[in-house]
Amino acid sequence: MLEGQRVVVFGGSSGAGLASAKLLASKGAEVIVAGRGAEKLDVKKELGDRASAFAVDGKDVAAVNAFFERVGAFDHLVISAGATNRGGEFVTSITDASFRETFDGKFWVQITAAHAGAKRIKKGGSITFFSGGANRRALKGMVNIAAVNGALDAVVPTLALELAPTRVNAISPGTLRTSYWTGVSDAQQEQIFGHMASILPAGRVGTADDIANAVLFLVTTSYVTGTVLAVDGGLPHAASL
Ligand SMILES: NC(=O)c1ccc[n+]([C@@H]2O[C@H](COP(=O)([O-])OP(=O)(O)OC[C@H]3O[C@@H](n4cnc5c(N)ncnc54)[C@H](OP(=O)(O)O)[C@@H]3O)[C@@H](O)[C@H]2O)c1
Repeated sequence: MLEGQRVVVFGGSSGAGLASAKLLASKGAEVIVAGRGAEKLDVKKELGDRASAFAVDGKDVAAVNAFFERVGAFDHLVISAGATNRGGEFVTSITDASFRETFDGKFWVQITAAHAGAKRIKKGGSITFFSGGANRRALKGMVNIAAVNGALDAVVPTLALELAPTRVNAISPGTLRTSYWTGVSDAQQEQIFGHMASILPAGRVGTADDIANAVLFLVTTSYVTGTVLAVDGGLPHAASL
């Protein structure tokens, strides 16, 4: 399906990005993974003989440019990178600095990767951003995360028009059981996942593989561009939060 195609997964060293890289590699793509901890990956074992991985911090514009220069021409860019703080109540716990840090850790990382990578994408290629559901369903204590995700959703239609024929889409995940939650205790994670499962129409939280399937769809479906694809268990229609 993807034989002869080169796919960069920026943020592919864990979670939904790694699951996407594995699925794309299994469909024949040469996968190139970037992430701050990418050197920890057992690339050949996880992604096959033709795959490669590079340690790159998306906050470092020069390093991101150097990475894409080294990669050269390629077909598809999947940008799953994002490390955000956990948010908090606007007046009492979110500071201007922590709000800005959320943009630095996700919005600017993804824009920098798209900026550096877009000019090297071959005809017929695509970009897939990763936003998140907090801007489509109000959740107390998540204003900074809602703002970042909304900003990423907002760049999609304009870039789809401007970068055509390169297709530009985003995936908007809901709650996923991934290493995104590292730092939250196991007990608290189970409490959050259990609560979300009980109120979501899908009756469960998501997995990295749910997102990988959606990435494969966006990468391979040439009639889809300018779209934000929600893969969130029906979050906007959840019973109560
Ligand atoms: N999990 C959820 O519940 C959830 C919900 C909504 C949206 N999302 C979004 O979905 C995307 C994937 O998250 P995930 O759940 O798969 O979490 P994850 O396992 O933490 O994956 C995040 C990926 O981004 C990379 N990354 C983070 N900061 C980076 C930077 N500065 N430069 C380069 N790479 C960076 C990480 O690699 P390194 O640490 O090696 O750099 C990792 O590969 C994220 O954008 C996240 O915001 C997740």
